[in-house]
Amino acid sequence: MARTALITGITGQDGAYLAEYLVKQGYVVHGIKRRSSSFNTDRIDHLYQDPHTENRNLILHYGDMTDSLNLTRIIADVRPDEIYNLAAQSHVKVSFDTPEYTANVDGLGALRILEAVRMLGRVSKTRVYQASTSELYGLVQEVPQNEKTPFYPRSPYAVAKLYAYWIAVNYREAYGMHVSNGILFNHESPVRGETFVTRKITRAVSKIVLSNQRELYLGNLSAKRDWGHAKDYVRAMHLILQQDKPSDYVIATGVTTSVREFVRLAFAAVGVEVSFRGEGLEEEAVVTAVDKEVFCRKVSSEAYDKFVKRVGEKVVGVDSNYFRPTEVDLLIGDPAKSQTVLGWKPEYDLHALVEDMMSGDIKLMKKEDYLLKGGHRVLNYFE
Ligand code: NAP
Ligand code: GDD
Repeated sequence: MARTALITGITGQDGAYLAEYLVKQGYVVHGIKRRSSSFNTDRIDHLYQDPHTENRNLILHYGDMTDSLNLTRIIADVRPDEIYNLAAQSHVKVSFDTPEYTANVDGLGALRILEAVRMLGRVSKTRVYQASTSELYGLVQEVPQNEKTPFYPRSPYAVAKLYAYWIAVNYREAYGMHVSNGILFNHESPVRGETFVTRKITRAVSKIVLSNQRELYLGNLSAKRDWGHAKDYVRAMHLILQQDKPSDYVIATGVTTSVREFVRLAFAAVGVEVSFRGEGLEEEAVVTAVDKEVFCRKVSSEAYDKFVKRVGEKVVGVDSNYFRPTEVDLLIGDPAKSQTVLGWKPEYDLHALVEDMMSGDIKLMKKEDYLLKGGHRVLNYFE
């Protein structure tokens, strides 16, 4: 019998990669998607199967993390072996604008899943993965951060996730449930949400080199993150639920990089050298050189003729609107436990991640430009 997994947040970055991974492993995958006025399944369209197909291995259900009746009914119908609770209002800056909603979805949402499993008598039948986060470390108390580092959340998002973390631990201890927290550090990909900083950068750099945008504005360029690839991180989620005993694991690369350096690497990936000058709100990046061979190979020779005229010009500036009321300055994880116990090792390093994101966005921006001219907006990110 094929194993059955239920993924909340299947339409998000991680949900899409995890669904693809589990389908390949032979699972029947059920996912919860929100009702939306426009299509929100771009990231999983390549896995979609018509409801009339026999023996489908991807089945979607309408639902919402704020609706416990609906979540309970879906779990009762699906009877999953494994639940991956990935759904969340996952944007840290947005959580300052929508703190109550974020608490409801990210904090109480986790409780709704756990309580449904318990009420339905599935404690020994369903394993649960809770999407915990390095944002829990916030104002870091130790460098690097491991499973024993004390938490100090710095946003409504992180505080909501703190509740979810501890309610998962509590259900494990109180009811003997197989519930585990993956404390995942930042992970990115070509399908990362467009307003997270890495994707904002790779999209904008792609548009700038294609001469479709002049400048990119960012917030805190000095923030440092431990960035990995989402493809590697969903493998870790699966491994966590395959362990005999539930536990909590840090998933990270152990390397930290500033936003400023990520900008430099994104331009460098297409042969453009930028240098930063000035400080604070006056800081900016200007183009200092363009490597013709790399640029023509990675972008195009038509684009080169236009872009090369921008040497000496500003391409990145700072806008205080992107600052956060309380910031997380530095995250760097210690993945020793996940490497030893799970045998998990990432395949992508930062350079490979930037390459993957830049080549995806150059392709997408060329196509977006073409499609916009043709009057269409539908893009398949996985093409
Ligand atoms: P994401 O791309 O923002 O995806 C979030 C998913 O949750 C989407 O499918 C979204 O649906 C869904 N969702 C949001 N609100 C919902 C609600 N009220 N009811 C049902 N579904 C809802 O996030 P991600 O990067 O894949 O991250 C997955 C999980 O890991 C999140 O819990 C996040 O907080 C956590 N995490 C992420 C990272 C990271 O670096 N990516 C690191 C640590 C932890 P729509 O598509 O309709 O918006
Ligand atoms: N989004 C954004 N936009 N961030 C910016 C910008 C900007 O214009 N300029 C600078 N930054 C800085 C932020 O202040 C932050 O310090 C850093 O870039 C990373 O921001 P995000 O990419 O938005 O990610 P995050 O670290 O806040 O949160 C992500 O990672 C968490 C794991 O540590 C999200 O995926 C969370 O859901 C996840 O839990």
